[in-house]
Amino acid sequence: MYDLPEEIKAAQDSTKEINMQYDFTTIMDRAGRDSIAADIIPVKGAEVREGFTKIPMWVADMNFPTAPSITKAIIERAQHPSFGYFSPSKAYYDAIISWQEKRNGVTGLSRANIGYENGVLGCLSSALSAFTQPGEAVLVHAPLYIGFSSVFTNMGRKIVASNLQRDKDGIWRMDYADMEEKIKDNRIHFAVFCSPHNPTGRVWEREEIEQAMEIFQRNDCVVFSDEIWSDLTLDGHRHIPTQSVSEDARRRTIAAYAPTKTFSLAGLVGSYHIAYNPLLRDKMRKAGSLSHYNSMNVLSMHALTGAYSDEGAAWVDELRGVLSDNADYAYRYITEHFHGVTLARPEGTYMIYLDCAGWLAEHHKTCDELLRAGIAVGVIWQDGRPFLCDNTIRMNLALPHSLVVEAFDRLDKYVFNVVQH
Ligand SMILES: Cc1ncc(COP(=O)(O)O)c(C=O)c1O
Repeated sequence: MYDLPEEIKAAQDSTKEINMQYDFTTIMDRAGRDSIAADIIPVKGAEVREGFTKIPMWVADMNFPTAPSITKAIIERAQHPSFGYFSPSKAYYDAIISWQEKRNGVTGLSRANIGYENGVLGCLSSALSAFTQPGEAVLVHAPLYIGFSSVFTNMGRKIVASNLQRDKDGIWRMDYADMEEKIKDNRIHFAVFCSPHNPTGRVWEREEIEQAMEIFQRNDCVVFSDEIWSDLTLDGHRHIPTQSVSEDARRRTIAAYAPTKTFSLAGLVGSYHIAYNPLLRDKMRKAGSLSHYNSMNVLSMHALTGAYSDEGAAWVDELRGVLSDNADYAYRYITEHFHGVTLARPEGTYMIYLDCAGWLAEHHKTCDELLRAGIAVGVIWQDGRPFLCDNTIRMNLALPHSLVVEAFDRLDKYVFNVVQH
């Protein structure tokens, strides 16, 4: 823990919820502790000015201690000092089946439908090699999670993006006509659907998923549904699994999940897919096995069973409240104080995606200058342009509330509303 200025300590104390069971207020010093969030500045040429602490608000992991049930499970396992070859336990599969039932209302899931994956991106690359050829086009939505772009590029697949559009209320919507046209024009048979959506924070409603899936059905597309953010919906929003919207959706979709985003376990690695259709299931299994790299780590298996437990569920429920408060605060602060910056009201994930076009035009600044100005005062935010939308910045809100308050205060005073003398 580092020594905090008095005003942050006061804000920290004032946000401590009396009834909170878990710790979402302590400011963890992650510097030098295996954390790119704390140790890397993601914008070239940017530096933090002397006198400002770093507030990590970029890569998608969290600045909270993880659920105690996870550390307990890992420590218990580590105390048995033998780490030889192993097979995934029944407890591992049972934990996933029970979590999916309790959190997502999934029924009829069995061990045979679950496949371990060394990361959702690895799972996507297996799916691409199982169902597409190099040079073939795949349909995605833009803004597009940067990790997807690098998988497509590395695997020589052609990205065809259908732009999400903000409606009159600022809500990001799919453009169904455009999706279908692009699928037909490019003879596409593989689509990636991100639900909830990173970076826009959209939690799709059932009718929206149904409409998208009808298009995929009409055009015979295999669907890769990335639901890694499914546990992190904000107040008033509920995740609908893509496979649950119709019998056809269940058969044409490979769904990817993980406890890594929900519980901030990315450094432990450990995702999984669900596929009901025997053709998809067997092809995924084969594609995933070919590299001989796609094997589980024993501590990651125990982390999952600790996470997908009753205590893990209670922790996530508290976390969702904390993230909802942070998202409300950020949304209100930006819309009230940062003229020329717009964003959709966050519905899920802990990322927000700022459209700074108005502010940049009004102040004759470039996006690079704006990014550097924020980082100069310790707000380590991320260039949003590689997510395929101009003039954008992506921010991570998974921090103690006091730090979110501090970050927006600095952005207000030193970046967006600087008084020119
Ligand atoms: C939508 C989405 N998919 C996948 C990932 C990465 O998943 P993994 O670490 O399991 O490869 C992320 C990480 O931020 C993400 O936001």
